[in-house]
Amino acid sequence: MTTNSSGPTGADLRRGPFRVGDKVQLTDPRGRMHTVELKPGATFHTHKGYFRHEDLIGRPEGWVVTNTAGVEYLALRPLLSDYVLSMPRGAAVVYPKDAGQIVQMADIYPGAVVVEAGVGSGALTMSLLRAVGDGGTLHSIERRDEFAAVARGNVETFFGGSHPAWHLHSGDFADVVVRIAEPGTVDRVVLDMLAPWENLDATATVLAPGGVFLAYVATATQLSRLAEDLRADGRFAEPVAWESMVRGWHLEGLAVRPQHRMIGHTGFLLTSRRLADGVVPPERKRRPAKGSYPTDAAENAGEWNEEDLGERPVSEKKLRKVVRSFAETDALPAPDA
Ligand SMILES: C[S@@+](CC[C@H](N)C(=O)[O-])C[C@H]1O[C@@H](n2cnc3c(N)ncnc32)[C@H](O)[C@@H]1O
Repeated sequence: MTTNSSGPTGADLRRGPFRVGDKVQLTDPRGRMHTVELKPGATFHTHKGYFRHEDLIGRPEGWVVTNTAGVEYLALRPLLSDYVLSMPRGAAVVYPKDAGQIVQMADIYPGAVVVEAGVGSGALTMSLLRAVGDGGTLHSIERRDEFAAVARGNVETFFGGSHPAWHLHSGDFADVVVRIAEPGTVDRVVLDMLAPWENLDATATVLAPGGVFLAYVATATQLSRLAEDLRADGRFAEPVAWESMVRGWHLEGLAVRPQHRMIGHTGFLLTSRRLADGVVPPERKRRPAKGSYPTDAAENAGEWNEEDLGERPVSEKKLRKVVRSFAETDALPAPDA
């Protein structure tokens, strides 16, 4: 299945007064949110009264509608970040905080040719489409047809129809990408999948020299495998990896402080640039710390030590000195006497 979409992006649908078919986010006095699709003759009911959708149709965004029991609701069109968190999901979605990082750090720009896989629920797809714009190209490759169908539903609902830059393909990234893109013609490759290292050869084939590869992975073990395989491939510059943590703040009078709860982990991001063909990556001046790569002997021994993890071991002499310093101040019980 390959979908070559064309038509309006629905940008205008996101402006102006509320219309029939708009999705509207209602916030009640307790801050609870409800999303409704405006339909003629429909009502929004809770156990505390109702209002008619007609009370909103034709009103500007940011309107406050009052129901039959006097409860007020603030009405706004959902932002992309609101929509992504409330839309139907097949697979786990890329959270807005990571989508923002991906667009910026993979340098997704208007008019770019971008390939992403997998598509999952289409959350990242929508941020990529916004960034490449109507004049760009986004090829989204998903190997599970059910997920591709969920993604298409979410993307087309959000944009109010098909997006001219979007091409959705079914199949495995490595098979599909070399069919749809000539070697060296893709500006950016973005992978969100379990084993992105399996796709480095296909990625290197289609990426233009200087093109950006970005991967989003959930665990440190995936990150490590990917970094080592990129280095071993030889067609990529030294990878860079990071994670982002966002801590919301509570804003209430004098009680202005971080929120008590936060999302502690979503995933790690890694980027690397495609080298020109035939170029050998420059030798790294900073050598890896001794022991960063375990020797066969260490691996066979089955025990990890500080050196295996790239940490400097503490010398016996230094340790004795520290223990002595505590013993002198009576901070530590004297060793068994
Ligand atoms: C975590 S989901 C992607 C979520 C998506 N980025 C989003 O924001 O909604 C991972 C997806 O990758 C797909 N996938 C895994 N390996 C793939 C491959 N080699 N080619 C294409 N799709 C793949 C899976 O079927 C799954 O739908």
